[in-house]
Amino acid sequence: MAGHIYLGSNLKMYKTARQTQDYLLNLSMSIGDLSRRDLTVFIIPSFTSLDRARRTIHKGDILLGAQNMHWEDEGQFTGEISPLMLEDLGVEVVEIGHSERRHVMGETDAAVNRKTLSALAHGFICLLCVGETAEQKALGLSDETLRTQLKTGLWGVPTDSLDRLWIAYEPVWAIGVGGTPASEDYADGKHAVIKHCLSEMYGSVAGRVPVLYGGSVNRGNCDALAAMPHIDGLFIGRAAWDANAFNEIIRAVLPVFQRKQGMVK
Ligand code: PGA
Repeated sequence: MAGHIYLGSNLKMYKTARQTQDYLLNLSMSIGDLSRRDLTVFIIPSFTSLDRARRTIHKGDILLGAQNMHWEDEGQFTGEISPLMLEDLGVEVVEIGHSERRHVMGETDAAVNRKTLSALAHGFICLLCVGETAEQKALGLSDETLRTQLKTGLWGVPTDSLDRLWIAYEPVWAIGVGGTPASEDYADGKHAVIKHCLSEMYGSVAGRVPVLYGGSVNRGNCDALAAMPHIDGLFIGRAAWDANAFNEIIRAVLPVFQRKQGMVK
């Protein structure tokens, strides 16, 4: 949604249920005074923390997400988690196609597409992650990679579910320990490519789809990223896993986003 700010964190395979609960209590207290009219904060903990997390946070305060989902409602898929199980836990957002799923766990564009279709059909907000590898970047294939991931990932996604679609641009070379954050200009350029591709696919309604940047966001680079015209939010890993540190980032970038989006002069 234009004129709205999205800030969230994927906790990856960190924090037990108890640690997630402490983190969420601390975070919701620290940001309790911030109006949610123009701001969505979301946290994506491990599957085993979801139930505790749901009982810890209020709906509308912090949105609760899952890191992955199988596309089938049920079946002989040992170790997988179905959309019905996530619905049952009160999950609101499902993250699909994170770089670690694609590049460490071998998830294909076709699987990402089935998951995206299923997540949207079940009424979740789908946070679809795209991003090029260092090799694709070196070969000058970044834009082609992003366009391919979008066109295959969103194959068959109807226009009327676009208001529940969020995109995260997360260059693989920028993510995690050893990652190099993308410069704000580079990231903004790729957000523009993503937005252009979405508008080719869906026309002007694609303007409703927020595009978030992720990959080594930290207190040092968050303001510059937030100021860029095509960046609608930040999707943060390590730098947000301490509630106080995330609170600091949220308070630093909020006025930057608000000024850019004309919410305040
Ligand atoms: P990072 O993780 O901020 O620790 O680089 C980002 C992500 O994987 O979403």
